[in-house]
Amino acid sequence: MATTTLSLLLFVSFVSAREFTDAETSNFPKLFHLDDYERCLAKEDGVYCLGTFDLTPAKLPHATYDLMKAYTDESYRHFNRTKIYRGFCLSDRCSPAALARFQTTLDLGKDPEELFERCTDFYMQNENFHASLQSLDYCRTHADIIEASERPPTSAEVIFKNVVYALVIANIVGTIYDNYAGDNPNKSKLLSAFSIPANWRRLTFIREGGDPRQAALVPMEGLRVMALGFTTYAHANVIHYMFHIKNPEYLERLTQRVDGVYLSDGTSLIQAFVMMTCFLTGYNLLIYSQKQELGLHMLPLCIIKRLIRITPVHLLIVGFGATWWLNTRDGPLVSTTIGLESEACATKFWSHVFLVNNIVDSDKYCVVPTWFLPVNMHMYILACTLTLLLWRRRCFAVRLYLVLFFASCLLNGFVAYMKDYKSMIYLSTPEQIRRIFRDTPSFTEFYLSSWGALPACFLGLILAHIQFALDERKIKLSDYKWFVYLHYTTFPVTFVWALTGVYARSHSSDVFNALYMGFDRPMFCILMCIGLLGAFHIDGPIRKFYSWRGWRTMARMSLTVMMLHWCVDMTIANRSVVYGTSAIDMLVDWCATNLITYVLAVPITVLVEIPMQRFIEALIF
Ligand SMILES: *[C@@H]1O[C@H](CO)[C@@H](O)[C@H](O)[C@H]1NC(C)=O
Ligand SMILES: *[C@@H]1O[C@H](CO)[C@@H](O)[C@H](O)[C@H]1NC(C)=O
Repeated sequence: MATTTLSLLLFVSFVSAREFTDAETSNFPKLFHLDDYERCLAKEDGVYCLGTFDLTPAKLPHATYDLMKAYTDESYRHFNRTKIYRGFCLSDRCSPAALARFQTTLDLGKDPEELFERCTDFYMQNENFHASLQSLDYCRTHADIIEASERPPTSAEVIFKNVVYALVIANIVGTIYDNYAGDNPNKSKLLSAFSIPANWRRLTFIREGGDPRQAALVPMEGLRVMALGFTTYAHANVIHYMFHIKNPEYLERLTQRVDGVYLSDGTSLIQAFVMMTCFLTGYNLLIYSQKQELGLHMLPLCIIKRLIRITPVHLLIVGFGATWWLNTRDGPLVSTTIGLESEACATKFWSHVFLVNNIVDSDKYCVVPTWFLPVNMHMYILACTLTLLLWRRRCFAVRLYLVLFFASCLLNGFVAYMKDYKSMIYLSTPEQIRRIFRDTPSFTEFYLSSWGALPACFLGLILAHIQFALDERKIKLSDYKWFVYLHYTTFPVTFVWALTGVYARSHSSDVFNALYMGFDRPMFCILMCIGLLGAFHIDGPIRKFYSWRGWRTMARMSLTVMMLHWCVDMTIANRSVVYGTSAIDMLVDWCATNLITYVLAVPITVLVEIPMQRFIEALIF
C-alpha cells in the first residue's frame, strides 16, 4: 500500500515536471502580437484596439489546446497560454478590402469592440481556435489621437510645469546672487541655498580624515550603491515581463533559474536598506548623546529634518509620474503600463505627501519603488523614538531590541500563517510578475508593509549599539581571528542563503512557510550586519573596494536613483513592437537605465534635493 502511494506520488511529481519541448510550444498561438501602431493611426480611417482574449478550441479533439492547457496548469512557471494579448490595427486587418482576400466578410457591427472580437476570432479560426474578448484595454481612432494632441494641459501639468520653472529660476537667481555676495557673512541664506556651484561641491566633495567614527562607516556607501545596482537590475528583469515579448519562454525559464531565484529575493535587499537607515539613525544619535542630553522632545526635529531631505525629490518624481511621464513615449502599451501608474500618481498624490502610500490603496502603484520611502520613514521614526528614550540604558536597550527582534519575526510569521501569505519565491510566477503582484495580498499587504520591516529596524539598532560599544572600548574586531573568518564567510553564505528559497518553494507545509516568511528576510539582514561590521573594522579587500571615492558621490544620489530608475526603465522598455528578450537584452536595458538615471540624478540632486533641503532649513531654523 505504502509503496503504491509512494510510486503514485513519484509518478505525479514526475508528470507535473514534464518538460515541454520548443517544438511543442512553437505550435501554440503567439502569446503577444502588436500591429504597427503609429502607421495604423496615422491613416485617417485608422482604428487600433488592444485587448486580451480567451481561447477555446473551435473543434474537438484539439491536441494543441490540450497541450496548452497542461502547460498553463503549471502556472508556477508558465504564462497562461489559453489567453492571448493582441493589438490589432482593425482598419487594415479587418477592413472589407483585406478580408476580400480570404473571400470572406465580417458582420462589422457599429462598435469597434465588437469588430475587434470578430476580427481576432476570424484570424484564430485558422488555427482552429475560438477567441472571445476577455478584457479590452482600448480602441483608438485617428480622431482620438488628433484630439489627444490638441488637448489643453491638465491643471496638474500646469502646476508641475510651473514648479519646474520656479526651480530653474530659483537656481539661476541663487547662483548669480551667491556669485555677487561672495563671502559676505550677511548674505541671505535663503537665496544662496540655490547656488549651483556650492551645491555641486556638496555633491562631489569628499572629506578625508574627519571624525574617525564616521570614517569607519565609509564602506557602507559602496555597499548601498551596489545594492541599489542590484535592485535596478532586478527591476530591469521585472519590467520585461510587463511588456509584449516575442519569446515569453525565456521569461518562464528565468523564474526557475538560479539567477531568477536571486532576483526574486530582491525584497530582502530592501530590508537591508531599512536596516542601514536604522543603524545610522541610532549610531549618530548615540554619538550625539556624548555631547548633549537626548530627550523625546527632539523627535519632531528629527522627523522634520528627514522629511525635508526626502519630500522635495519624492514629490517631484511623483509629480513627474502624474504628468510628463506619460509623454515620454508613444506606443500601443504606454497607456496600459505607464498610464496605469501615472493615474495612481494623480489619485494617490496626497498619500505620498504624508508618506502612507504603502498603506493607502497599496495595490495601486505610482512609481513602484516609492513604497520603500514610507517603510523607511516609519522605521526611522521608531528607531529615533527608541534611541531617544533608551540612550542612557544601552545594555538594557540591546536586550530589549533582541527580544523585540525575535518577537517581530515571530509576529511576521504568525501573521503570514493566519492570512496565508506566501513567500516571494513562491509568488514569482510569470503571470504574477507580469502584474507586479498587484492582485497578490502577500505582496501588497505583507512585503510592502511597514511592520514587515520591524525586524530589520531592531537589527539596525542592535548593530548601532554594538558598533558604538566597540568604539567606546577601542576594540578592533580585526584582532579577533574568528570574526575575520566569520566576516569572510558571510559573503558566500549570503548567496547560499538566498538559494534556500528553492527548498522553501518545494515545501508547502503551512508552518514551514510561516517560519520561512518570518525569518528569511531577517536572516539576510543578520548576514548583512556581520558583513557591515566586518567592513567597518577589517582593513581588507572588501573594505577597500567599498570605500572607493566614486561610490560616495553616487551614494549621495541614491534617493533620486532609487525612484527615478523605475521611470527611466519603464520608458526604455516601452517599445511599440513585440520584442525578443534575453540576458543580454536585459543587461543592455539595465546599463542604459543606470547611465540615464545617474546622468539625470545629478541635476535633480544639485538643483532640487540639496538646495531645497538648505532652503527649508534656512526658512524654519
Ligand atoms: C488561464 O486563463 C483563463 C482565462 O482567463 C482562466 O479561465 C484560467 O483559469 C487561467 N488558468 C490558470 C491556470 O490560471
Ligand atoms: C554685516 O552686518 C553688520 C550689522 O548689520 C555690519 O556691521 C557689517 O558691516 C556687515 N558686514 C558686511 C560685510 O557687509
